[in-house]
Amino acid sequence: MKKILITGGAGFIGSHVVRRFVKRYPQYHIFNLDALTYAGNLENIKDIENESNYTFVKGDITDEVFIADLFATHDFDGVVHLAAESHVDRSIVDPLAFVKTNVFGTMILLNAAKKQWQGNFEGKRFYHISTDEVYGTLGAEGLFTETTPYDPNSPYSASKASSDHFVRAYGETYGLPYVLTNCSNNYGPFHFPEKLIPLFINNIINNKPLPVYGDGKYTRDWLFVEDHAVAIDLVFHEGKNHDTYNIGGFNEWQNIDLVKLLCQIMDTKLGREKGTSEQLITYVKDRPGHDLRYAIDATKINKELGWQPSVTFEQGLEKTIDWYLANTAWLENVTSGAYASYYEKQYTN
Ligand code: NAD
Ligand code: DAU
Repeated sequence: MKKILITGGAGFIGSHVVRRFVKRYPQYHIFNLDALTYAGNLENIKDIENESNYTFVKGDITDEVFIADLFATHDFDGVVHLAAESHVDRSIVDPLAFVKTNVFGTMILLNAAKKQWQGNFEGKRFYHISTDEVYGTLGAEGLFTETTPYDPNSPYSASKASSDHFVRAYGETYGLPYVLTNCSNNYGPFHFPEKLIPLFINNIINNKPLPVYGDGKYTRDWLFVEDHAVAIDLVFHEGKNHDTYNIGGFNEWQNIDLVKLLCQIMDTKLGREKGTSEQLITYVKDRPGHDLRYAIDATKINKELGWQPSVTFEQGLEKTIDWYLANTAWLENVTSGAYASYYEKQYTN
């Protein structure tokens, strides 16, 4: 039985990846390593917690001794590394936390894999999950390809870019077998409500203002999270060694248009009069260093591995909204406690 370590599996994307791997690969044993920070939640993977090919391990990727022991004990065949500090706004307030987890933590994992595998890399793979934000910002035209130079603008994207460089360096210098993907904005169930879509769904439900940064003309390329999990599965199994793939939704939206669409669907779902939720839109002070536009050219993964998104944005958004409306207890749970003070600090000028 192959032993696969997935880091960050109690977070948003990680929970979908863990679920997919546990269900789809009974011949693997999946170890989900997560520190359960504010963003990690065991409720996100409750449905698979008793599966016989699944083990949850609470631990921090920055704890060198603990990670070395974990690798020595289980001798993993593969690593799918998602654990990270992931929110741009938090990185502006506390950049060092991002260096610690995203750069140092990735280094600790790379070192542990290198030491454990001892140059015997047959059947081994280190898969690093990264973001399109490492490429910086686009103007009105163009798309990010795998050869676009790195040009990160936020502490978050700089920390992810740095970790990407170390992964490549371990491949070049020590021969560590790696694959790396850079994905666009995900959305879907279990998304923590500090990010645009779940934050606005939660605020619409509660009739709270919808804080649109700047003029709302910033553009993101949105991908349904389960389609990202499918891509991760494909790249882990069929991606070329020492290679990078961009993953995106072919789905660009200016924030303000997306927010208006969200408002329309929510009004229908909540039985509110048309136009009710749009009245909550409030323009607030901009994010410092705000990247204007992200858009991914996902031709390579499409041509080489046959991947493409399976749902349209309207379908994915509807599934997402339905999930949040059916899981208000999950929302209430994650927005109680520390969330209120985060919200107050972030959105009170
Ligand atoms: P998330 O914030 O929802 O989850 C991160 C998880 O990592 C949490 O469960 C948290 O507890 C865990 N974690 C954080 N620090 C840890 C540490 N030191 N040790 C162990 N576990 C720790 O993040 P997400 O949105 O699911 O993103 C997952 C990965 O995908 C990240 O690497 C992120 O950079 C990347 N990514 C995210 C998006 C997106 O749109 N969300 C897009 C592209 C790439
Ligand atoms: O592109 C991939 C990245 O997408 C991931 O690497 C990050 O982990 C993920 O958080 C996401 O980053 P963004 O900064 O693009 O996502 P966020 O949801 O924070 O913001 C999306 C857009 O909405 C962005 O232009 C900022 C804007 N925004 C966001 C919030 C939270 C607002 O206008 N108001 C808000 O309150």
